Amino acid sequence: MASVAVEQPAPAARDIPDTASDLPRVDLAHTHTDLSSDDDADAPPLSALETPIDDAASVEVVPGDDHGDHVVADDLWADDDDDDDDLWATDDSDEPELEPVPDEAAKMAAAEAALENHKSSVRVYHDPKGIYLLPADDGELSRLTLQHHLITIHMDHKLILPSIEWKEGDAVLDSGCGTGSWTLDAQPRLPAYVHLTGIDISPRLFPLPSNTPPNVTFTQGSTLALPSEMADKFTLINQRMLLGGFSKSQWPEALREFFRVLKPGGWAQLTEATMHHGGPAGATVRHMRIMHAMFGARDLWIDIAQPGVLATLFHEAGFTNVTEVRRTAHLGKWAGELGALGRRNVVAGYRAMKTPIVASGAAKVAGVESEEDYERLMNDMSDELDATEGSGMEWVCVYGQKPLPASES
Ligand SMILES: C[S@@+](CC[C@H](N)C(=O)[O-])C[C@H]1O[C@@H](n2cnc3c(N)ncnc32)[C@H](O)[C@@H]1O
Repeated sequence: MASVAVEQPAPAARDIPDTASDLPRVDLAHTHTDLSSDDDADAPPLSALETPIDDAASVEVVPGDDHGDHVVADDLWADDDDDDDDLWATDDSDEPELEPVPDEAAKMAAAEAALENHKSSVRVYHDPKGIYLLPADDGELSRLTLQHHLITIHMDHKLILPSIEWKEGDAVLDSGCGTGSWTLDAQPRLPAYVHLTGIDISPRLFPLPSNTPPNVTFTQGSTLALPSEMADKFTLINQRMLLGGFSKSQWPEALREFFRVLKPGGWAQLTEATMHHGGPAGATVRHMRIMHAMFGARDLWIDIAQPGVLATLFHEAGFTNVTEVRRTAHLGKWAGELGALGRRNVVAGYRAMKTPIVASGAAKVAGVESEEDYERLMNDMSDELDATEGSGMEWVCVYGQKPLPASES
């Protein structure tokens, strides 16, 4: 049986400068690898990365016997003692005092400033006819950079959650690496002999070769068809936010690919996000109708980050020691600077999908007929999130291990 660690509290922002304009403007298109540099003295100690997130809230769970979209929390926590309420508590009183370290605050503010400056209404998509909805352009680069830091903060500043003893010859894969922010931030925190490979269907957001350390490679390709020579190669696979990249039938395929290319004893860690919830004004509700229509039409798995869904996929692919970490992210100005940045990231992500969503006709379910209508809806949703206490979403990280042969375990 798997252990599932569920942690809820969202961090509070303390050190983010009051406005992005307090910081130097950064042209992310040309310097984005600098934003991922790890040159500050205030960053968390490297050892923190090798420490699993506190699993004091771990419970034994019985994995669902389907893909989890029918698994409900009560079933998942069937083996739990009486701590169920605590697991789902959103009581802020026991919130850890998490906050961006100054370096993260500066990088996020710079990314937000660049996002704000991205005025182009014409977005560039890697494959407009593919299922992936998000663009691969400067605006998306800024958004993903901001999102990278938001996720990292919510995961206690850790980039690697399972506990790994690194050895000569170890290798790491960052699947769907996008801008490579995770790869480039993880690289200095790992022994120099570890090789890191970032793979993405689109190379458009890859860091410049001049900003890529010698033990890092970025390569174009699909996670769903990793090269045969990668079999049993990796000690760790990281993947974040492929919610919009894999159809329902492709998710189990991806987990099987990860299992194939991991060394025995190696780990996969997948981070995804739930849809957000907003307020009574209804803009979020209208928008969610569109999301359900859009995801449904593309057979994307909108509930992939719901409790137990990814964990079940891990089990079905053969992984053990599956652990699920859930973090609440408050969205909107009511939740301070971190909430404002979180809202900025989420709404910018939905704005970035505007053209394919409106072109598909999916937005009509909510009376949205044109890109202008969609813009208005995004503005209303921003205002709603800013004003509605309790608006939020969850970041979810699930990790699991490819078993060692019985003789070695
Ligand atoms: C939302 S972005 C996340 C990027 C990065 N993981 C991060 O957290 O910043 C998703 C990325 O997945 C890539 N992607 C989509 N489908 C893919 C596939 N089948 N194989 C590899 N990458 C894929 C997209 O091109 C995009 O760069």
